[in-house]
Amino acid sequence: MLVCVPNVLSKDDVADFRCIMDGADWEDGRSTAGAQSALVKKNEQLPPDSAIARQLGDRILKALTANPRFVSAAIPLRIFPPLFNRYAAADSHHFGIHVDNAVRGDYLTGMRIRTDLSVTLFLSEPDEYDGGELVIEDFYGAHEIKLSAGDLVLYPASSLHMVTPVTRGMRAASFFWLQSMVRDAHARSLIFDLDSAIQNLVDRLGRDDPETVKLTGIYHNLIRYWAEV
Ligand code: NI
Repeated sequence: MLVCVPNVLSKDDVADFRCIMDGADWEDGRSTAGAQSALVKKNEQLPPDSAIARQLGDRILKALTANPRFVSAAIPLRIFPPLFNRYAAADSHHFGIHVDNAVRGDYLTGMRIRTDLSVTLFLSEPDEYDGGELVIEDFYGAHEIKLSAGDLVLYPASSLHMVTPVTRGMRAASFFWLQSMVRDAHARSLIFDLDSAIQNLVDRLGRDDPETVKLTGIYHNLIRYWAEV
């Protein structure tokens, strides 16, 4: 399941992020790649342990935990400290087809997670660059994703995916992984659909409607049944 979450960061926040990132030192993106993905990865990253990456990452984490759609779709247990990359047309940057590493460890915090979901938070507007689509393969084929700055996409970390070559301008993004309380993607998808339907019912009938209350109970009981915390 691919889930887009709009407006995680405001346009003002995005402009501030971009200003800070423009003044930072960047390194070869292969520093965080696994053996296979290093062969097909050509971009730049902020050094993962740098103060700038951590400060910007913390701002993203704060925005995520306050975003109901993100929380509903991901049911996050632990979120990896966000990383930042950029793809420049001048350097023919791209990232060929790969699968993300199953387990990620963070050197500074000692955090270790199973990567259930991958996240890309777009920090460039679509009209700033050509190419640079995030292409994600699932049972239904290949999906090309290019979102407005401040929007993110959640997708299974188990999926094959790539970033097509940037042929004009520059594409900046944050990317990271999370471990969900609900490991099974199908179960997580059912809970998300149920939650979305309940929210629509609440809007129509109010939170006190007896059926809404029952469905809310079922929602929590399914999480109780499936969650690993
Ligand atoms: Ni990847």
